[in-house]
Amino acid sequence: MNEPEEPEESPGKPVSRGAEAALTRVEWLGLAAMRKDRDPKAYRPKPLDDRLRRERTRNEARLLREARSLGVRTPVVYDIDLPHHRLVLEELPGPTLKALLEAEAAGLGELAGPVGAFGEALGRLHAGGMSHGDLTSSNVLYPSGAEGAPAFVDLSMGARPASLEERGIDLHLVEEDLASLHPKGHALFLRFLEGYSTGNPEGSAEVRKRAKEIKGRIRYA
Ligand SMILES: Nc1ncnc2c1ncn2[C@@H]1O[C@H](COP(=O)(O)OP(=O)(O)O)[C@@H](O)[C@H]1O
Ligand SMILES: [Mg+2]
Repeated sequence: MNEPEEPEESPGKPVSRGAEAALTRVEWLGLAAMRKDRDPKAYRPKPLDDRLRRERTRNEARLLREARSLGVRTPVVYDIDLPHHRLVLEELPGPTLKALLEAEAAGLGELAGPVGAFGEALGRLHAGGMSHGDLTSSNVLYPSGAEGAPAFVDLSMGARPASLEERGIDLHLVEEDLASLHPKGHALFLRFLEGYSTGNPEGSAEVRKRAKEIKGRIRYA
């Protein structure tokens, strides 16, 4: 699984270096791919750090696959290399939700469709018992363009089965993120919720209620 098929050590610089990982564009058996290397954390004892990084890598690979089986687009996992805390993923083209929100002239008209589709996809994930765990607009991509179905990346903090609290936190983060990135964030969140109820018709009410409680708790903490 590891050595022989390892992608060429890319001379490329990481295209993204988040809090947790470095993403590098590589070729995988001729396909455009992203290598995700989970960084070590020096403040954790090494054995604990190794274990956490392995668990998150394994968790992410599992959830990426399971999300697809729920009908939610995610990158295909080409390889898992646990000793190196590394995944090789299909590279998804297309803008992030963040890029759409920040685009100049992006008003409610242009954004309602993509945001509603995002809500529906998250609803489907939740209805299937999964939470995302780090739902910022950089982790939502539109591989078929803004009018197509969205895809989720970065599921390493997700859970399945997810608790009501975990699903509520997902919804709360979306509200915060939309509000911080767009002047019409609240209207967009309402559009998002419409999509969400379509994707999660049974569970929508209780998750929305929990998200409101979380918001209140944070506000009055
Ligand atoms: N498979 C992919 N295809 C295209 N872009 C990706 C892919 N995976 C991640 N990205 C981009 O790189 C960013 C960082 O990757 P992510 O998995 O979120 O790492 P981190 O855990 O460091 O946040 C994402 O927010 C996304 O915009
Ligand atoms: Mg991320």
